[in-house]
Amino acid sequence: MLERLAAAHGFGTVTIDISDPVSVLSARDAVLAAHPDLNVLIAMAGIIVPEDVTTAGFLDTAERIIDTNVLGPVRLVAAFTEHLQSRPDATIITVSSGLAHTPLRLTPSYNASKAFIHQFTESIRLQLAGTSVQVIELVPPAVRTELMRGQSQVEAFLPLDDYIDETMSLLASQPGANEILVERVKPLRFSEVNGAYEQAIATLNSH
Ligand SMILES: NC(=O)c1ccc[n+]([C@@H]2O[C@H](COP(=O)([O-])OP(=O)(O)OC[C@H]3O[C@@H](n4cnc5c(N)ncnc54)[C@H](OP(=O)(O)O)[C@@H]3O)[C@@H](O)[C@H]2O)c1
Repeated sequence: MLERLAAAHGFGTVTIDISDPVSVLSARDAVLAAHPDLNVLIAMAGIIVPEDVTTAGFLDTAERIIDTNVLGPVRLVAAFTEHLQSRPDATIITVSSGLAHTPLRLTPSYNASKAFIHQFTESIRLQLAGTSVQVIELVPPAVRTELMRGQSQVEAFLPLDDYIDETMSLLASQPGANEILVERVKPLRFSEVNGAYEQAIATLNSH
């Protein structure tokens, strides 16, 4: 599908495995050789896997999630930041989740990986303040993709096109925003500061 979209829209592609440090660096080199003016990094890739801390398979799953969702974006940011700083106007976009702020029982390491992304993003924004690099965090709610098998069919989740439209509209209307928060994610994002944390956890985990 990616090749078809690339041909239709005229963008380039490169193969990358963000859980492999060598792959990240070789992808970085290939991208920058082809696009020396590149000024945006979107660290979008991620996985979600149901976990049970009481079972033997827990550790392997947790390590896989952390390698992809935590170390992956860190590797990307490490690989591209020096180049991005050389551009007059650049942006790093990370992707966390509402689950960074209100935990889903089924996915402990995923929730924690996204909490890491939130704090990492907040922190590198502080370090890059005063440079040409803006740092933005997308905080999606449950969206109808195949992140977890079958979730694109879940009616209660936000349709992907609606998520994209609202996100693009917010990026355009709030160019200085640190976080891009569609309406649907706000109850999860702000549950703790609103004093609704326990209720939000109960609602999220009620089925
Ligand atoms: N959908 C939601 O409800 C939701 C909610 C909150 C946050 N998010 C976040 O949004 C981001 C995008 O997810 P999505 O919903 O669009 O799901 P998706 O369609 O499954 O996209 C995830 C992408 O990550 C790629 N990926 C996974 N492991 C990788 C690796 N080691 N190296 C390189 N690429 C890898 C996958 O590539 P392959 O297909 O080639 O494996 C896939 O293209 C993720 O960070 C996810 O955690 C999603």
